Amino acid sequence: MRRRPLPSNSREEMEKSNGKPPRSRICFLAMLAAMFWLLIFYFHFTVLSVKAPEPQKPVIPFSSVPSETQHFSKESESINPVQYFDPPRSKNNYTPLKPSNDHHDTHQESVPQEAKKDFPFLRALKTAENKADPCGGRYIYVHDLPSRFNEDMLRDCRKLSLWTNMCKFTTNAGLGPPLENVEGVFSNTGWYATNQFAVDVIFSNRMKQYECLTKDSSIAAAVFVPFYAGFDIARYLWGYNISTRDAASLDLVDWLMKRPEWNVMGGRDHFLVAGRITWDFRRLTDTETDWGNKLLFLPAAKNMSMLVVESSPWNANDFGIPYPTYFHPAKDDDVFVWQERMRKLERKWLFSFAGAPRPDNPKSIRGQIIDQCRKSPVGKLLECDFGESKCHSPSSIMQMFQSSLFCLQPQGDSYTRRSAFDSMLAGCIPVFFHPGSAYTQYTWHLPKNFSKYSVFIPEDDIRKKGLSIEERLKQIPSHVVQEMREEVISLIPRLIYADPRSKLETLKDAFDVSVQAIIDKVTKLRKEIIEDREDKDFIEENSWKYALLEEGQKVGAHEWDPFFSKPKDANNADSGSSSAEAAKNSWKNEQRPQS
Ligand SMILES: *[C@@H]1O[C@H](CO)[C@@H](O)[C@H](O)[C@H]1NC(C)=O
Ligand SMILES: *[C@@H]1O[C@H](CO)[C@@H](O)[C@H](O)[C@H]1NC(C)=O
Ligand SMILES: *[C@@H]1O[C@H](CO)[C@@H](O)[C@H](O)[C@H]1NC(C)=O
Repeated sequence: MRRRPLPSNSREEMEKSNGKPPRSRICFLAMLAAMFWLLIFYFHFTVLSVKAPEPQKPVIPFSSVPSETQHFSKESESINPVQYFDPPRSKNNYTPLKPSNDHHDTHQESVPQEAKKDFPFLRALKTAENKADPCGGRYIYVHDLPSRFNEDMLRDCRKLSLWTNMCKFTTNAGLGPPLENVEGVFSNTGWYATNQFAVDVIFSNRMKQYECLTKDSSIAAAVFVPFYAGFDIARYLWGYNISTRDAASLDLVDWLMKRPEWNVMGGRDHFLVAGRITWDFRRLTDTETDWGNKLLFLPAAKNMSMLVVESSPWNANDFGIPYPTYFHPAKDDDVFVWQERMRKLERKWLFSFAGAPRPDNPKSIRGQIIDQCRKSPVGKLLECDFGESKCHSPSSIMQMFQSSLFCLQPQGDSYTRRSAFDSMLAGCIPVFFHPGSAYTQYTWHLPKNFSKYSVFIPEDDIRKKGLSIEERLKQIPSHVVQEMREEVISLIPRLIYADPRSKLETLKDAFDVSVQAIIDKVTKLRKEIIEDREDKDFIEENSWKYALLEEGQKVGAHEWDPFFSKPKDANNADSGSSSAEAAKNSWKNEQRPQS
């Protein structure tokens, strides 16, 4: 620091001495300068170099912990996350991951005990043992993405949809404009005209309220990537070439893989959210006429978890989360009051349906369902055929669901519908006709025993046997109906997204449930890696996600297998193609959210 001032001082002195300085004085000054520089060099190489970072230092996060790291001893030292600010991966900072150098691969063979200390995520796992830390094991690190991956899309909201002006739907932190309670169907506050594809923004904004955010990625249980993947593809689904559709996805994985956080697990602790169906991100070929982008097929994305409103039944990297409803409570009490009201309602219809037929799709049972609603004295229909029909009015829809015992939820263009969540919010018991509409989708949010909260009528019973829905539902004893409705009503908190600008006191909403599930998934994987018992048997094409989600679930035949037309050949990566085809043909109906 002193280097600069001193030479300039000596120059100053020379100037001050005016013209001809005596020879001895010049010699003296020259010697002084020489000695000074020597001193500087000496100082630099001895004192300063001690302070320089040591690249050779081993990166063992818990060097003080003895070698029984896999047992996670209970009485661990308390870890104050604020004290630990030095991420344990400094060696690899900002270098893209090379698969051959990856930690995890070397652990597939038996590994000497000493090497086991070297898991870069150990410190994060250890935070869970600190009982004094309420966030232990639950920290989330959020990537600070460049604005082109999120905020810029909101600014250019007019481009987000060909038919809908999304600008009004991105207001209020993604909830959309408030709904007035004119007909008394909603509550006076907490209701919004929420667009069904708005989860990208709602989830990101909810994350800002998450109580255990950390800026220290080395203690994070999972890493959130706030990319608006759904908004990104929505801009380009119609009329854009594949390089335009893929551009942001490729840009994103390129950005992520250069971050030090990526190296910890090759991105397997990363997750992102897209409020659209998985088939929009699963383009199988680079043929221009193929649907969507190929985000979910990128090698980096295969390591991440993507939360979508409709997931693929077979693939390992996407998970179903609820569509948004119109209800976004700001406090627990708003939810309790709503639940209590749904319990007490008079429900005059046995069953109802809001939707449009699919005359172009010969396999669709919607025609029969609409017929049955029309003919039954206890059935109610809200048809979505005409432009500004009541089917598009949140108030009409919610009013019908609130006065029905059962709500029919046949698949539309893809397996799932937002309507399923709107109806459950109204305390109406859903009737599903395909397991892909809920049971294989929302495994985090709905009970595994589907008979507790829903009725399952296989499509073929309607299509081929002409089963009467009225007869089938009338057979259910009223006390069972009552129990099922109570189950549906009790599920409401975890199916809705709370207002991202405030926070529920005790209730866990759809966001909380999803984040906890991701944390559990990553934690389970980390422990498996340490204990070298990672399940490598999972083959996407012939496996069910249950095997990924639940301890002890085996890959193999599953009760739902017959309902999915998947190729027998496991080598065919193309299991989702028929649904992708369906999505392609029909999501052109985006402007008809309830249809
Ligand atoms: C794709 O479209 C963009 C703009 O719409 C254009 O700039 C680009 O050249 C096109 N790429 C290909 C390969 O056609
Ligand atoms: C995905 O994770 C595996 C296992 O950690 C790793 O070997 C691979 O390199 C990762 N892929 C990418 C693209 O980082
Ligand atoms: C599922 O729930 C139904 C209704 O409550 C019950 O009768 C049935 O025994 C349950 N099945 C299992 C496997 O727990």
